[in-house]
Amino acid sequence: MKYMTSAEIREKYLSFFEEKGCKRWPSSSLIPDDPSLLLTSAGMVQFKPYFLQQKHLETPYIGTTTVQKCVRTNDIDIIGTTGRHQSFFEMLGNFSFGEYFKEEMCAWAYEFSTEVLGLPAERLYFTVYLDDDETIEIWKKLGVPDDHISRLGEEDNFWRAGPTGPCGPCSEIYYDQGESFGCGSPDCAPGCDCDRFLEYWNLVFTQYDGQEDGSFVPLPKKNIDTGMGLERIAAILQGVQSNYETDVLRSLVAVGESLTGTVYGEDAATDLSLRIMADHSRAVAFMIADGILPSNEGRGYVLRRLLRRAVMKGHLLGLDKPFLNEYVDEIVTLMGHVYPEIVENRELMRRVILSEEERFGANLRQGRAYLDEALAELEGDVLPGDRAFTLHDTYGFPVEVTRELCDERGIEVDMEGFGRCMEEQRERARAANTKDAEAAWSTYGGVMNEILEAVGATEFLGYTKNDADVRVLALVKDGQQVDVLEAGDEGRIVLEATPFYAEKGGQIGDTGTLSKDDATVRVLDTKEPEKGLIAHTVQVESGRIVAGDTVHAAIDVPRRERIRRNHTATHILHWALRQVLGDHVKQAGSYVADNRLRFDFTHFEAMTTEQIAEVERLANEKIMENHPVHAYETSLASAREAGVMALFGEKYGEFVRVLDIEGFSQELCGGTHVSATSEIGFVKITTETSVGANLRRVEAVTSFDALAYMNRMEAELKETAEELRVPLLDVSERTAANVKTLKELQAKMKRNLQTIADDGITALLSSAADAKAGYPVVIGSLGEADAGQMRNAWDVVRARLGKPGAAVLAASKDGKPILLAAGSPEAVDAGFDAGAIIKAIAPNVKGGGGGKAAMAQAGGKDASGIEAALEAARELLL
Ligand code: SER
Repeated sequence: MKYMTSAEIREKYLSFFEEKGCKRWPSSSLIPDDPSLLLTSAGMVQFKPYFLQQKHLETPYIGTTTVQKCVRTNDIDIIGTTGRHQSFFEMLGNFSFGEYFKEEMCAWAYEFSTEVLGLPAERLYFTVYLDDDETIEIWKKLGVPDDHISRLGEEDNFWRAGPTGPCGPCSEIYYDQGESFGCGSPDCAPGCDCDRFLEYWNLVFTQYDGQEDGSFVPLPKKNIDTGMGLERIAAILQGVQSNYETDVLRSLVAVGESLTGTVYGEDAATDLSLRIMADHSRAVAFMIADGILPSNEGRGYVLRRLLRRAVMKGHLLGLDKPFLNEYVDEIVTLMGHVYPEIVENRELMRRVILSEEERFGANLRQGRAYLDEALAELEGDVLPGDRAFTLHDTYGFPVEVTRELCDERGIEVDMEGFGRCMEEQRERARAANTKDAEAAWSTYGGVMNEILEAVGATEFLGYTKNDADVRVLALVKDGQQVDVLEAGDEGRIVLEATPFYAEKGGQIGDTGTLSKDDATVRVLDTKEPEKGLIAHTVQVESGRIVAGDTVHAAIDVPRRERIRRNHTATHILHWALRQVLGDHVKQAGSYVADNRLRFDFTHFEAMTTEQIAEVERLANEKIMENHPVHAYETSLASAREAGVMALFGEKYGEFVRVLDIEGFSQELCGGTHVSATSEIGFVKITTETSVGANLRRVEAVTSFDALAYMNRMEAELKETAEELRVPLLDVSERTAANVKTLKELQAKMKRNLQTIADDGITALLSSAADAKAGYPVVIGSLGEADAGQMRNAWDVVRARLGKPGAAVLAASKDGKPILLAAGSPEAVDAGFDAGAIIKAIAPNVKGGGGGKAAMAQAGGKDASGIEAALEAARELLL
């Protein structure tokens, strides 16, 4: 056995299986092309269609071989506490889709292990599934002694990626690290939880397709799926105790050492943090490179949780500034030659990590303080669920992180209570979201369902037709089915087929008319209250409509044309945003009306003016190139295969509609569109804003609305230019100059006022006289000043007197008199009472007021009485 680097092991594995006839295949994205899985967690994930014989490998290949990046977080709690688990790891694999099977696979695994890697045969142990005698015989034939083969049950030796899909019994190969690694138990054997027998290779005999009901249907052919954890085999070949000491991960642990000034291997708690930071930073970086952004659900939540957990560990080691982004360079250096996506997305990874660190960092300290307080107050050893919820909701602590922090102190978290709080929050959000929709439909509810049951789904004609003669099937008024709608009535009408588009997928509903010889009905809106049922919201203008009538249904064509332009423009903007910002941009929502559109998407920071301009330029270029637009129906599977963009989390049926803008954009979409891009005319982005964490929104207008928008801007500019008396294009320059002058003038004015006030105070101070009680008093007028300035003046007087004293000051503001009396504590001790003085002198200015002995003030109505008031004060005090 000789030392091999991770890079050498990768290459030896892939070329070994290439020589056996497998095709070398790139790692697939961490985002699986498979709605049943959140993240790619094994090498076989990208080959599911091949196992199911839906796709076929070209000849002469007998299989494929890969090194696959994987993320698994099911055992996140133990990551770092053992040397064998990681959230991100690389899996070496080879796969056969009905070509080679057990016999070949076992022979090759044995050959690769003993001859290529040079593992001593006597250290290898093999397990097989309970009744798999055939595989036992194969291992024996290869020379494996009986006592190195054992049978294990479903948990160890039956493999599946998820609840359903290709799966089968497996045989695993273990490396015996020696007794010194073991638990010492006489029963210690492969499968034991201790570190002696290290499972490094799993050979799965993929024979079944697991069904939803738990049954197994044999696959058409017998397949092979193998997986060897790169870090595990590297640990064996590099003679180290744990995966974290193998070449790649050790270099990442070193990044943590230098950031924190700690040394790995000296303290168990520090080691745990360093391991978690090394592992999670890598998972986080790779996930971002594949287009995942931190969020509160799905993959985004897995990412956020890993990222925040790592940040928390750094925080515990004394890091209080963002640091996790600093792992990115080392990750790229170590792994960029295998995974080009991390080289391309280096900047994106760094920026997303940094922005999430900043977001979380701001709350981290406060959240920790909140938790410490909650724990200090705690009676018993369970943290209430609402506390964990506040930490989640207010401070952004993933509940798993809270659990871990509590666990360190032997405290449990009431997860049920936490779940209840989360559910209540979801309920509140749902209630808020559906309130409008419910308000609109609550009176219909069941009726629409009854109609759907009776008449079935409505055929939509509007992709090709703007009008049609169709039969009226049902009428609704005040929440009840009725036989007739009379002139003046408002209600809903269901037709057998309709050119009216019902509000869906962000596109608003059509308006128009339903008419027959003696009746006209205005369609105010169109909705789909039940799946497939189109209901027209109507007002009968004249005549009457009864069920069974044939009406001429005609949409408002100019309005629909504007909607079409906006809808196609939305797709073009989506494409352009991805070009400019990157592939992490995903649609998160949209609204397509006749006069504007908006598009929400994932992105981690505000767009710059240049980026907005570039998106606009690209979008308009596509518009002017006049690409044909058409739609076609296909199966969901083939749409996915063709790389058509779909909304994550959206449920699609088996057949889907693809909207194809020839040459650059394919999206699943049920909306209505222009037939060539130049019909859009021109698109103009009007705003770009934030609508949540990592969610941005652009709003835009097209065609005549874009023209109107530009005209409005131009008119504003013209008006401003006229005001400023400069040519149109000098407006910004002149405005900047004016603002500068204004600021200078303001500063100058402030300085002047200051001087006046100072001068005033100097004059007052020189008039200071001794009060009867012995302390100096300043009595006089400040001229024009407000109450705040007067209080400042008293502060200045007091400071400049440099000894105990008092003042009675008067001023006027906008013609209204203000009086202020104030004294130092010593003056008050000597009998000065500001409140009493103000009360006594305020009538002179027709005012009232009061306060404490140390300070009092009054406003009044008659400024001409100021002198009299001051005179009264003099009489009282001097
Ligand atoms: N799919 C199996 C595993 O992940 C073998 O590749 O262990």
